[in-house]
Amino acid sequence: MIKSRPQTFPKNFVWGFAAAAPQIEGAAFTDGKGESIWDRMARTPGKVHNGDTLDVACEHYTRYAEDFKLMRSLGAKHYRLSLAWPRIYPNGDGAVNQKGLDFYHRLFDSMDKHGLTPWVTMFHWDLPQSLETRFGGWRDRRTADAFATYADTIVKTYGDRVKNWITLNEILCFTRLGYGGHDKAPGLSCSEQVVNQTYHTALLCHGHGVRAVREYGGKGARVGLTDNCSVSVPLSETAADIAAARAQFIHDNARVLDPIYTGSYGAAYRKLVGKHAAKFEKRDFDLIGLPTDFLGLNIYTGTFVRAGKGGKPEQLSFPAAYPTADAPWLKHVPQSLYWGPRHVAEIYGVKAIHITENGAGYNDASPVKGEVNDLHRLNLVRGNLGELRRTINDGVPVKGFFLWSFMDNFEWQDGYERRFGVVYCDFKTQKRTPKFSAKWYQEVMKANALV
Ligand code: NOJ
Repeated sequence: MIKSRPQTFPKNFVWGFAAAAPQIEGAAFTDGKGESIWDRMARTPGKVHNGDTLDVACEHYTRYAEDFKLMRSLGAKHYRLSLAWPRIYPNGDGAVNQKGLDFYHRLFDSMDKHGLTPWVTMFHWDLPQSLETRFGGWRDRRTADAFATYADTIVKTYGDRVKNWITLNEILCFTRLGYGGHDKAPGLSCSEQVVNQTYHTALLCHGHGVRAVREYGGKGARVGLTDNCSVSVPLSETAADIAAARAQFIHDNARVLDPIYTGSYGAAYRKLVGKHAAKFEKRDFDLIGLPTDFLGLNIYTGTFVRAGKGGKPEQLSFPAAYPTADAPWLKHVPQSLYWGPRHVAEIYGVKAIHITENGAGYNDASPVKGEVNDLHRLNLVRGNLGELRRTINDGVPVKGFFLWSFMDNFEWQDGYERRFGVVYCDFKTQKRTPKFSAKWYQEVMKANALV
């Protein structure tokens, strides 16, 4: 008889689920919540699949207690959530909405009751529309001033119960993909210089988030950014291809990771943006470069790179037959879970990494006899975890993994068609049904090992 060796993760490894306020809460205009740029975008014809809105979503606003019960019954002890800025400051700045603050108090009470530790993202794309209308949103540093006050308020209010803070989620997606002619809110096509300016405002907000946690977070508070860095994977793990992948990684991530970890716009940034650089004040980097406690990485995919002529990195395109999720950008590249963490540890010396999102988007069929067979998702995530374990075994300091997502939800421009949940959500009845992947992940968390 051959006995399989347990493929364990380190002791105290953090396992959990991830989700975000605008994608699950619904109650888009309840109890004084202000309009967000995504509420506006969803009402703009042709922008969101099927004309879906965030108005109802998973009704988590009223169903959070049953959701936490289910989450806990699946064995999770950690939950990454976000707070809705326009729930707390309906206009982004100005008067605070007490009912919004009260909602998250109730939410944290319930998490506490169900033994769930919060990991709180301050901003997950739901910019108050008023800041967009009055200031031009991420194009203008007055948005960073408003964020500074918002960050102070939430850290002061919840700092005694929240110890894990994430400043921003995926800067690329609310800057370039919102202002550079792509499909995210506010859906604008601005110049390259303006796009770089939106990144700069975001970096300032990140800095303010870190500052707020240091000032008001209290004992044991930790803070970091969640980034969706582009992950370059060496075509073969030879010295030459690894060097090429590393050079590509430095180039691709020069707008976000480089300034945060080096405290300036360095050579990589200047080479990348040329004459379209953001305007900034020198003192901005006192904030941007503030030391953090961990880096959150959302990794779903990657690109293959090989050493070309003279070692020059050559990015390879994906052939039509390459395995892909229903989300067309989500190519199956399990090695990205190995190389993403390794690159940031090697290049920037990051000492603690959390995978704050990983998962798969498919148009899953509805339950049959109470079951949802999503072997496609299960197998993809299992392969990813194998590579994550390999990177940990090689000495890369990965401390946690949050599966995206707990339940199907509003997938931005793809509306409700594209499902990322391990729990199926019937959006008509709001019934939740754990898929095969949820039951498998339950065993992984229980064993602290690949099963
Ligand atoms: C990253 C984003 O943070 C999240 O909001 C989104 O739903 C997932 N990726 C899947 O696309």
